[in-house]
Amino acid sequence: MRSALKGIDGVQSVELSAYADIYTVTFRPGVTPDENKVQELFKGCAYNGRRVVVERDRKSVVDFAVAQPRPAAPEDNPSTAGRVALGKRLFTDKRLSSDGTMACSTCHSPQRAFASTSTTAKGVRGLEIPRNVPTLVNVGYRRSIFWDGRKKSLEEMSLGAVEHPAIIGMTSDELNERLRSIREYVDLFKEEFSKPPTAQTFALALAAYQRSLVRHDTPFDRFARGNESAISESARRGYINFRDKANCITCHSGPDFADGAFRFIGVGWDGKAYKDPGRAKVSGHPGEAGRFRVAPLRELVWTAPYMHDGSLKTLEEVVDFYNKNGPEGKRTDLHGPLNLTDQEKKDLVEFLKSLSSERWTVAMRE
Ligand code: HEC
Ligand code: HEC
Repeated sequence: MRSALKGIDGVQSVELSAYADIYTVTFRPGVTPDENKVQELFKGCAYNGRRVVVERDRKSVVDFAVAQPRPAAPEDNPSTAGRVALGKRLFTDKRLSSDGTMACSTCHSPQRAFASTSTTAKGVRGLEIPRNVPTLVNVGYRRSIFWDGRKKSLEEMSLGAVEHPAIIGMTSDELNERLRSIREYVDLFKEEFSKPPTAQTFALALAAYQRSLVRHDTPFDRFARGNESAISESARRGYINFRDKANCITCHSGPDFADGAFRFIGVGWDGKAYKDPGRAKVSGHPGEAGRFRVAPLRELVWTAPYMHDGSLKTLEEVVDFYNKNGPEGKRTDLHGPLNLTDQEKKDLVEFLKSLSSERWTVAMRE
């Protein structure tokens, strides 16, 4: 691999990191790398700026390198600074829920990586959403929205939140009225959209704000960028294990460690049935009951409990769950018990922790 890389025009040096199988390819100054050449050489591997990431013995490859482009915004909702700032205000404003008690940030807490610590979510008038609150960090990269992927975009999701009884709980008309009764919004919407607020422009601004919630600066990201001491020895072993023996990477691949697919791993199986139909409700195929979107693995330190139903309280419990191959007697997409030693389990947990930011303090009001 090294010599093939060196054969590419303009390559000055090739270094292979000891732990991560990340090739750092440096091109001579002034050379524009021939991306097609690199892609061809590493069919199925990721190429990202100066870094090529290669799986040791598998084709599926992960792009851990950090220089991710910002999430693409749809044409009709550019991420202008004004729109993002307006969306941020809306995100924290309780006046915009029917009974004045809820904002997005009540459940998606900026101090918890935009997730929450409770197992399920209590909304307006005590109505419960029977699912675990996911982090909104890097949500702009996701191909579908929600644990069951029932929405296609953040715009669609945000508009849906308006009439959702537990979230905003108003008709579009009622929300329009509420927004128009608040002077600052009348002015801000006018500035950004050149007209008075509507539920549609409300959703556009909220979506633009959520798309701005991008973080790629965890200890693991620093490690992947070349700082070998950014994570502990144990986390490094865990990372190798994640890809090799434990084989988490078949599903948890890509910059956010989730491939966007829907799979069965058996969470919510009570011995007879799945408590939550998951994907089946979206697709209409009863055979998809219990299938959920592969969860991204960033910021887990802040977002316990885990899984769509919050049924696993700690990362240790998560690793035990996979080690035992999910629920007993239930066929899933998992490939059998992992037979991890205690040390290997610890290492995996350390690796998962290294995908979290060290701090979460976000100023929500300027
Ligand atoms: C009462 C708590 C609560 C409130 C308030 C709330 N959410 Fe959520 N949010 C949840 C829960 C629970 C889920 C998971 C639901 C599911 O997957 O079916 C979720 C999921 C999401 C997702 C999907 C994330 C992903 O990974 O796919 C987005 C985006 C989101 N919420 C944005 C918002 C916005 C914007 C608001 C404000 C308009 C908001 N939420 C208000 C509880 C809440
Ligand atoms: C067959 C695909 C598959 C494999 C293999 C897999 N996962 Fe998952 N993972 C999923 C799915 C699907 C979910 C969401 C399941 C749910 O909530 O019902 C998930 C959820 C998780 C969560 C919860 C995240 C959160 O925010 O709640 C963690 C942590 C996790 N996986 C870690 C791992 C680790 C560690 C391994 C390897 C030991 C692994 N996964 C192997 C598919 C997989």
